[in-house]
Amino acid sequence: PRVALLGAPIDLGASLRGACMGPAALRIAGLEEALRERGFDVEDRGDVAPRTPAPQVSGRGERARNLAEIAAWARSLSDAAYETMRDGAMPVFLGGDHSLSMGSVNGVARHAAEAGRELFVLWLDAHADFNTPASTPSGNMHGMSAALLAGEEGLEEVFGDEPRRPIDPANLHLFGIRSIDRDERNLLVARGIDVVDMRLIDEHGASVLMRRVLERVAARNGMLHVSFDLDALDPAIAPGVGTDVPGGLTYREAHLIMEMLHDSGLVTSLDVVELNPYLDERGKSARLAVDLVSSLFGRQVFARGPDNALAP
Ligand code: ARG
Ligand code: MN
Ligand code: MN
Ligand code: MN
Repeated sequence: PRVALLGAPIDLGASLRGACMGPAALRIAGLEEALRERGFDVEDRGDVAPRTPAPQVSGRGERARNLAEIAAWARSLSDAAYETMRDGAMPVFLGGDHSLSMGSVNGVARHAAEAGRELFVLWLDAHADFNTPASTPSGNMHGMSAALLAGEEGLEEVFGDEPRRPIDPANLHLFGIRSIDRDERNLLVARGIDVVDMRLIDEHGASVLMRRVLERVAARNGMLHVSFDLDALDPAIAPGVGTDVPGGLTYREAHLIMEMLHDSGLVTSLDVVELNPYLDERGKSARLAVDLVSSLFGRQVFARGPDNALAP
């Protein structure tokens, strides 16, 4: 299997700068080597360049900050995702703030539609990222990417005349959530989005809730895109993020989620986003991110068969 690493050094979607150094930190923490060790044919394609000249997008001021710049990224990232998947490789996007998923997931969705497959998105995050320019309290576009992808109105200019392919809101699964804005909450309820919040995870356990999602994807022979925002993790283990919220996934929960994703065999593309090395502690969050991605790609203590017996 072939894996393509694509850097997306973008930080204008967040309130704090610094996530543009994320791709470099993930590379320095050894992401490529870790995947090679798992037996994958890995190609680091370097950083994607935003579309130039910048698209003609009218500014939206404080309702959608840096809209033109985010649109320039979204358009080139969408093409990169689409082309990588069409060529049969699995794209892994290295962020960069979470606005990059507007582009990566749109491109993946274009490919899935052409391949006649249904696309599902697992959004691992402390936040729902389901704001629109009308609902946002901050104007930060990394808080709007899931809404755009699910087809919400108000961000048509991001893709302009370029192909836009929304995902079915019923196929969006938010997981690890513990911070939602008021109007954002109303929108999530109105659309019936599946929100697995930390309360549910505490009560039922991550594995039961993950299995529910995976079984649904498998039953429909779907493709699964994982959009992994590092602030889903507890800030004690991953301090290198700009919008940290207490009470996140533990080290063990996070690894279990990644191991289950691997065992499912369903994951066809991945974003690793919101790593802000400027805020990290001596590379701690970057190294944990690489460790978790290794689990998603199959690293485990012992391989086990379905009967729980140790596999050779
Ligand atoms: N809900 C807040 C907002 O809209 C925070 C979003 C944080 N998003 C993220 N990808 N870290 O500004
Ligand atoms: Mn194009
Ligand atoms: Mn996010
Ligand atoms: Mn987040």
